[in-house]
Amino acid sequence: MTADAPQSILAPNGTVGIVGGGQLGRMLALAAAELGLKTHIYCPEADCPAAQVATAFTQAPYDDMAALTAFATQVDVVTYEFENIPVTTVAQLAQHKNVFPSAAALEVAQDRLVEKSFMRAQGLDVAAFFDITDLDSLTTALAETGGTGILKTRRFGYDGKGQWRLDAESDLAAVLQELNGQPAILEKLVPFEREVSILVARAQDGTTAAYDVIENVHRHHILHSSTLPAALPADAHKQATQIAEKLAAALDYVGVLAIECFVVGDALLINEIAPRVHNSGHLTQDACHCGQFEQHIRAIAGWPLGDARAHSNAVMTNLLGDEIEQWHGLAAQPATYIHLYGKAEARDGRKMGHVTQLMPKA
Ligand SMILES: Nc1ncnc2c1ncn2[C@@H]1O[C@H](COP(=O)(O)OP(=O)(O)O)[C@@H](O)[C@H]1O
Ligand SMILES: [Mg+2]
Repeated sequence: MTADAPQSILAPNGTVGIVGGGQLGRMLALAAAELGLKTHIYCPEADCPAAQVATAFTQAPYDDMAALTAFATQVDVVTYEFENIPVTTVAQLAQHKNVFPSAAALEVAQDRLVEKSFMRAQGLDVAAFFDITDLDSLTTALAETGGTGILKTRRFGYDGKGQWRLDAESDLAAVLQELNGQPAILEKLVPFEREVSILVARAQDGTTAAYDVIENVHRHHILHSSTLPAALPADAHKQATQIAEKLAAALDYVGVLAIECFVVGDALLINEIAPRVHNSGHLTQDACHCGQFEQHIRAIAGWPLGDARAHSNAVMTNLLGDEIEQWHGLAAQPATYIHLYGKAEARDGRKMGHVTQLMPKA
């Protein structure tokens, strides 16, 4: 849908279809409910976090075309909370209802080579990257990156999975065996000072609302905490908004888009994008007038975008695995908002919930 195409507006009591049933779907469903909208979750797993709080639930595989069609006929607009659904799933749904973000935006975000090539074509900065298909291309690329780099599978990577840090000591043949024929890229190591994310919402009419830049700290490749606002040179905040608006427009994007960046001096280098609400944006729920979940629902439902400005500074901390056992003490903290995802089993590293602590703006 382009800026001059007619908007589709979902009135209260309409139904938002959400593909994917994790915590992002859960918080989208809760935000939709606040706006008087119903939700229908489509997810392969039983008792998923989103289904627990939604109006309706279809349990079916992502490639079940009949189930997808039945789902699409029961909802008014479709979105997704998980970027590893097949593009054919989105295409199938789009035959019946508007799907936001579009299959085209999803395709860019699913493949690191396509994604980085797209950024570069838009004149946006990314780390040097090389297409890796075999030992020869890897050896040549490593020479170009100065002997060190990060090898990443093009598809399906998350939380550092599908990544190998390479240096002169690395046994490249062994790494390629682990890669097992999956298409990959090699990236030059970025000596970043900080990692930040830029969240921006774009409505069906092309208007945008960007959040203040959020700073992220990872532990063991999983997001540990996020802070609003990021400590950045003043010019970087301006750059961030420009990057966000440019990318969202180039993707003809509708919904909330997350852009992960490295900060190197005054420059922002894009690492990757997520075509959805993002873990680093959870603090916007409590620290901004309109949080990312409500904002995404507003965008796809054709409502006016909400006010993305922060009324407070904030720090969000993920509760991973058995950290959720601290819930009782955390619930007693002042100016702290606790969000738990309803997952039965606290496996190691699993995202079980998060807490956001608010502080007065400086
Ligand atoms: N080119 C790079 N240079 C330095 N660090 C990197 C680079 N690429 C990734 N990393 C580190 O690894 C983390 C995970 O990589 P990312 O590409 O974001 O994959 P994932 O999909 O697992 O989040 C990043 O947040 C960053 O800390
Ligand atoms: Mg990442």
